[in-house]
Amino acid sequence: MKPILLINFKTYEQGTGKKALAIAKAADLAARKTGANVILSVQPTDLKDVSKAVSIPVYAQHMDPIKPGSHTGWILPEAVKDAGAKGTLINHSEHNLDTDIISANIEKCKELKIVSVCCAATPKIATELAAFSPDFIAIEPPELIGGDISVAQAKPEIISDTVKAVKSVNPKVKVLCGAGVNSTEDVMEALELGAVGVLVASAIVKSAAPGKVIESLIKGF
Ligand code: G3P
Repeated sequence: MKPILLINFKTYEQGTGKKALAIAKAADLAARKTGANVILSVQPTDLKDVSKAVSIPVYAQHMDPIKPGSHTGWILPEAVKDAGAKGTLINHSEHNLDTDIISANIEKCKELKIVSVCCAATPKIATELAAFSPDFIAIEPPELIGGDISVAQAKPEIISDTVKAVKSVNPKVKVLCGAGVNSTEDVMEALELGAVGVLVASAIVKSAAPGKVIESLIKGF
C-alpha cells in the first residue's frame, strides 16, 4: 500500500468553497505529478464540487449514522456517498462522538463500502476503537493540533505505541498520525514509527502556497 497524505480542510476560510476547490486542484496536480496517494477531507457543502473537480479520493469530515427520514440538520451517510465521498473521518478531536455512534458510523461505512478513518486522541482510545475494525485509526494528540511541532517530533512513542496496540487488537487496521505535521522529515519520521501515512491540516490549508507544501510532504514518502 502506498503511504497516504490525508489533507483535512476543516472549516478554515482558506479551505471553504472556491478556496477549497483551489487547494483540491493543487493537491490533485501534485498527486498526478508524483503518483502519491493524496486524499482530501472537505466540508459537506464542498463534497460534490470538490469530488467532481479532482481525480483523487475525497472524504467527508463527519457523518451521522442515521437512516433516511425525519432528521433535520444531520448528515446522512447515503448523501455523503452520493455527493462523491469515498470515505469519512469519524470522531475527529474537534468533533468527538460517543462510542456507540462511532461504532454505528464504522458499520455504516462498511455497509456503504466507503473508507472509515477513525480518529483517536490517545493510544488507549485507539486500542478501544480498533476493536470496531475501522479501515484506519488516526492518532492525533489534541494539544499538538494546529501547532508547529509535529507528533512525530514531540511524542514519537504515541505513534509507535498506537501501532503496536492497534495491531494487537486487529492487524488489519492501519494507523495514520497527525497533529503539527509540516515537513518532509515529519512525514519520514511518522512512517519510520509505523504509520502508513499522515493527516495534515493547517500546514497546507493555511499556507500561501499549498501546492508547494503538499509536494514537500510527499517527498517524505
Ligand atoms: O485532522 C488533521 C488535524 O487535526 C491536524 O491538524 O493543523 O495540526 O495539521 P494540523
